[in-house]
Amino acid sequence: MNIIDIISKKRDGYKLNEKEINFFIQNYTNGSIKDYQAAALIMAIYINGLDEEETTIFTLEMAKSGEMINLSDIGDIIVDKHSTGGIGDKITIVLMPIIASLGIPVMKMSGRGLGFTGGTADKLESIPGYNTDLSLEECINNVKKHGISLITMTGNIAPADKKIYALRDVIGCVGSLPLMASSIMSKKIAAGANKIVLEVTVGSGAYMKTQKEAEKLATIMNKIGKISNKETVCVLTNMDEPTGFSIGNTLEIKEAIECLKGNIPEDIKEIIMELGAYMIKLSGKGDNLEDNRNLILENVHNGKAFSKFVELVKAQGGDIGYINGEKEFKQAKYVIPVVSDEFGYVKALNGENIGNISVKLGAGRLQKEDKIDNAVGIVLNKKIADKVEVQDVLAYVHSNNEELGKECANELKMAYEFSKEKVLKKPSILGVIKEI
Ligand code: URA
Repeated sequence: MNIIDIISKKRDGYKLNEKEINFFIQNYTNGSIKDYQAAALIMAIYINGLDEEETTIFTLEMAKSGEMINLSDIGDIIVDKHSTGGIGDKITIVLMPIIASLGIPVMKMSGRGLGFTGGTADKLESIPGYNTDLSLEECINNVKKHGISLITMTGNIAPADKKIYALRDVIGCVGSLPLMASSIMSKKIAAGANKIVLEVTVGSGAYMKTQKEAEKLATIMNKIGKISNKETVCVLTNMDEPTGFSIGNTLEIKEAIECLKGNIPEDIKEIIMELGAYMIKLSGKGDNLEDNRNLILENVHNGKAFSKFVELVKAQGGDIGYINGEKEFKQAKYVIPVVSDEFGYVKALNGENIGNISVKLGAGRLQKEDKIDNAVGIVLNKKIADKVEVQDVLAYVHSNNEELGKECANELKMAYEFSKEKVLKKPSILGVIKEI
């Protein structure tokens, strides 16, 4: 068997068998297959796809390419959560302390931002002192002691996905259904949880631009979950505009803190209630989704979720002075208002453009090695369906470079589209896929 034959087979639209997929995954992970050959195969997969059987094999091979974590020490039922990515996505940071405050153990590994979407690990690291790089053992100890640990990808989890994802990112092959499904599910399978709630984002700020594509992705992931004996629920959420109002690492942490204190923007509230309700259900702590949604809000309003977040930050070395308001997060030097010269209702707010603008400001990375600036980003003042008058502030750009900030403010203005007619806001929850 050789890689050229495998590339040619997929290039010509044929199905790969288990041996060929296994050969590729093993030999790319150990460095025997070079990046240029892997890139050719990934591009052929992007164009010609993988069927369900190939996708499942691809996923399981990637999961097996590294360590398979055993979380039975923490509990019999461990529920994990993952999102296909979005702009301003601070859902993990808000939701996981709520879930932990309900007595459900939370052990979650999150990635760093790359491209137009941010990463939860970067956001958490904008809390001075917070260490996302715990060893697996330290992480499990923290879950046993505090009921929660949020870390970055640790150990040797699905190293094949790490390499293939980084490669896809630089060859324009992220947005492929089988590649996304196998990337997400391989990590979830290796990470040891036995129940999985997935947020599948749809819209201008997501990789899946249409509901139909998102439903297909969700269905594939559900099937892989079933085959791997991991009950999986996919919640489709609207990502036509950023989640909440803030985009950028410190800005998002500040918004997450406000949410945990009970000041929750409507879209974030809908998403945490739905994902949370299914997490509670899958954990076996409540079958009635409506009751579960109420439990989520109850533990925000009674302060238990915020206390759990403070406990988490402290346990991971973070300075809780920043969380309880004794200390101020470092702000960007310039806060530049984006002023509207139109009136009407906001009709569209291109999420991907906004993500790219925040990367340009320094909040994200174009290359893995890029340094990020925690303080910079965007705070929206107007979102879809809001009424806008001429001279109203649409958003604020937070920048450490005045010229760049002004340039980004102009670009941000262009990301808004207006209508003279009233605009109806889409709900944040577009559907749930749980049965196959
Ligand atoms: N998130 C992942 O983990 N993998 C993808 O391919 C896309 C989003």
